[in-house]
Amino acid sequence: MVKSERAAQAMYVCNCNGLREREVRAAIAAGADRPAKIFKACDSAAQCARCVCDMRKMLDEEREALRYAAE
Ligand code: FES
Repeated sequence: MVKSERAAQAMYVCNCNGLREREVRAAIAAGADRPAKIFKACDSAAQCARCVCDMRKMLDEEREALRYAAE
């Protein structure tokens, strides 16, 4: 993993719960398929919900990567 990828993984996605990108991606990799399940996997809950759009983008990215890998 290059330095910029590590920095991105350390960025906060959810400031209310202190969830970093790597935690959100780990929850997605473990099967979370929507923001509510990501919060649950991270033992947290939506508060302001400003992060939900970013979580949805990450879910779309993971789905796209899986679809691309399956081709
Ligand atoms: S930023 Fe995630 S609930 Fe507020």
